[in-house]
Amino acid sequence: MAKNGFMSRFSQDIGIDLGTCNTLIYIRGKGIVLNEPSVVAVEKGTNRLVAVGTEAKGMLSRTPRDIIAKRPLRDGVIADPDLTEKMIKYFIQKVAPKNWFFKPRIVIGVPSCITKVEENAVIDSAYKAGARTVKVIAESLAAAIGAGIPIVEPAGHMICDIGGGTTEISVISLKGMVVTRAIRIGGDEFDEAIMRHIRNVHNLIIGDQTAERLKIEIGNASPERTIEKVEIKGNDAITGLPRRFEVDSVEIREALMPSISQIVDEVKKTLSETPPELAADIVERGIVMSGGGALLKGLPKLIAKETGVPVILAEKPLECVAIGSGTYFETMMNSRESSDSVYESLNL
Ligand SMILES: Nc1ncnc2c1ncn2[C@@H]1O[C@H](COP(=O)(O)OP(=O)(O)OP(=O)(O)O)[C@@H](O)[C@H]1O
Ligand SMILES: [Mg+2]
Repeated sequence: MAKNGFMSRFSQDIGIDLGTCNTLIYIRGKGIVLNEPSVVAVEKGTNRLVAVGTEAKGMLSRTPRDIIAKRPLRDGVIADPDLTEKMIKYFIQKVAPKNWFFKPRIVIGVPSCITKVEENAVIDSAYKAGARTVKVIAESLAAAIGAGIPIVEPAGHMICDIGGGTTEISVISLKGMVVTRAIRIGGDEFDEAIMRHIRNVHNLIIGDQTAERLKIEIGNASPERTIEKVEIKGNDAITGLPRRFEVDSVEIREALMPSISQIVDEVKKTLSETPPELAADIVERGIVMSGGGALLKGLPKLIAKETGVPVILAEKPLECVAIGSGTYFETMMNSRESSDSVYESLNL
């Protein structure tokens, strides 16, 4: 253990938020050093990497025939393990020195619903990228740490992380997840609901980037005071010709409501599964929300109204998982009561 203590003083702790939409890397002492879309562009047939991250996202739906831009993670699962591995290695190597003097400890926040095989693939990629120790943790636990929730306390805290592919809700006490529920509904599903609505009601086909823009600019989960309008462009579903159309915030809210209701129901179910003493703590402290989906206007307010529990939006909702992963070891070690067993369980 003394040796580990010595090593950990010099080696760097790196936290990775391996998200369906975005990958973020946090280095302890430096902060967020990488924030790029989880997208890769590969050459068809050979699977040779052409571009990764921001550059690859620009190629989505606009690639020449021999190049495909893909999101290797979808709906909170690893849709393409080989590309996920290439992406992780690329991102780590982008922010890391060529040869580590002291290899880093890497903690990766992943959706709690990924399988053991997927988890092993992620761990493997981080080792191949030069890690000394790799630990995979649930993204809601990471989000809770990153949001500054005192997870080592013997008190109930609830975190609701709404990402692109998944919504994960956990009740955490004494460093452990007491109740966790996850559904494959998040920002991507919001975009798809908007695309379906515009097609079904207005016969207009729009791309997912236009749908995301509508969601961010005029999307709202609670009835708004003023109705906002945005002009969009798409292809007519019947003639196939491009045309313009004006969409308002009321119809966007209606399109989003079925997905939003599923998230609200999931929060309610998690609360009802929470032991009473911990539930009492949550009522007092509030539900903390993180993830890009939590930024949907009016969503925290709606969840507070529907559950009767106050809701707090984390200070940096998009960065919590990366920050929490990067400070995981530190947080766990600082809880004095069982530091030995923590060392053991982390295989240091
Ligand atoms: N201001 C905003 N309003 C509404 N949605 C937003 C806003 N900003 C970002 N988003 C959405 O947040 C989602 C991305 O969030 P985030 O980066 O937390 O997901 P992720 O961690 O990559 O996904 P997951 O956790 O499911 O693997 C996208 O769907 C994006 O459109
Ligand atoms: Mg996430």
